[in-house]
Amino acid sequence: MAQTIVIFGASGDLTSRKLIPAIYSLHQKGRLPHDTNIVGFSRTAFSHDAWRQHLAESTTRFAGPQFDAASWHALAPRIFYFPGSVDRVDDFQALCKFLQEIEGGGAVTRIYYLSMAPQFYEMAVANLGTAGMAGEEHQPRRIVVEKPFGTDLASARQLNRQIHGVFAESQVYRIDHYLGKETVQNVLVLRFANAIFEPVWNRNYIEHVEITAAESLTVGHRAGYYDTAGVLRDMLQGHLLQLLTLTAMETPVRFEAEAVRDEKVKVLRAVRPIRQEDVLADTLRGQYRGYREEPGVRPDSQTATFAAVRLHLDNWRWQGVPFYLRSGKAMSCATTQLVIQFRQPPYMLFEGGPRDPRDSNRLVVQIQPAEGIQLHFHTKVPDAGMQLRMTDLNFRFREKFAGPMPEAYQRLLLDVIHGDTSLFARSDEVEAAWKIVDPIQAAWDTTAQPPLLLYEPGAWGPLESTEWMARQERSWFDTCPVLH
Ligand code: BG6
Repeated sequence: MAQTIVIFGASGDLTSRKLIPAIYSLHQKGRLPHDTNIVGFSRTAFSHDAWRQHLAESTTRFAGPQFDAASWHALAPRIFYFPGSVDRVDDFQALCKFLQEIEGGGAVTRIYYLSMAPQFYEMAVANLGTAGMAGEEHQPRRIVVEKPFGTDLASARQLNRQIHGVFAESQVYRIDHYLGKETVQNVLVLRFANAIFEPVWNRNYIEHVEITAAESLTVGHRAGYYDTAGVLRDMLQGHLLQLLTLTAMETPVRFEAEAVRDEKVKVLRAVRPIRQEDVLADTLRGQYRGYREEPGVRPDSQTATFAAVRLHLDNWRWQGVPFYLRSGKAMSCATTQLVIQFRQPPYMLFEGGPRDPRDSNRLVVQIQPAEGIQLHFHTKVPDAGMQLRMTDLNFRFREKFAGPMPEAYQRLLLDVIHGDTSLFARSDEVEAAWKIVDPIQAAWDTTAQPPLLLYEPGAWGPLESTEWMARQERSWFDTCPVLH
């Protein structure tokens, strides 16, 4: 079936940086269905040609060295622009007419992509409903909603209610672009396509789990959004909790959307709620030095740019195994990684063998940028008695597979086109994630505890974060990945 992808908020950054380059790459690889039209909608006055020209320039920049002018020229005539405002229902009605014209009356799947500031989501959804553009009586209609999906549980519920007033849940695709990353999906493959991990993937063998998303970049020009969001809403509620669900979930009965999403929701529901009195012991917050001088940041901003949170899952598999989630801007290096820290052997046979729990086996899943997996284990140092040393088996995607890793949006857009919701957050999943974040954010907003710790840009967050782990006889795996 033919498709029309309508991008609301077409003149924005996400469209030119991510969406159009992803659509272009799919087209270049021959994966975009031939009869796909793309229509941009926003207030800026562009003609079709002016928008195509604007996108040609940005796509040259963002699609990378693979960009090829000839294939862009083949795609460009299928890109259209329709100026309009999200708060005007007559603009939606006019858009609907325009879509019917370019679709030529045939059977066409429509994808409405909300790539605009979140305060306009409700308006756009309502107007899609009023203009009669949401009903699926004849052909599929899908809506893609970008993050942030609400700013807390109440607003997420309200948004869900409002969307469900117009679209059925099966039509809704809530994006968390982490789920489009190959290495994130590979967590499921690692766990469920191999027999050797599952028997040890539980409290009997795993001492703790660490999920880190460290960024070396500062907030840059995004302060307007970031200073009101902060690290919990920006990174933890979505990306880190998504990684947690894939790491901790039970085997789904089938590899299909509802079965996978059911298991993910169960993980979020198993997270022990953090009570106000636990926030001091279980969370750390920090802000990099210089954040308040960033353009657009309030000079007395209390917004956290670093968070470390200890979560417990109350279920049979994970009882007693802490999950540490950590993220920060302006950190030592960019690395997103999942660290499975195993327990020590029950008895150390070798006299010089390691006795510190921090020196036991570790499985490091590198999500990005050094995509790969390392297994750390002890080895006998040759010709040195029974001296032992930690060594590793090192798998890297780049060494085993040709070609660059695709951008997450390619996979996600393709899934929307094919109607596969597996990699998108369901309404109950989003709400369960906010239930975890809300009490922490509320305590951070209303009390001075834990204190907002300043850290130097280029460090692994505040020093106290290292000390906090040391007090628990644990340590972060603070290693910048080798990139070559
Ligand atoms: C976004 C956050 O969702 O994810 C950004 O808003 C963050 O603050 C980004 O930088 C990280 O994504 P990635 O794919 O670069 O790890």
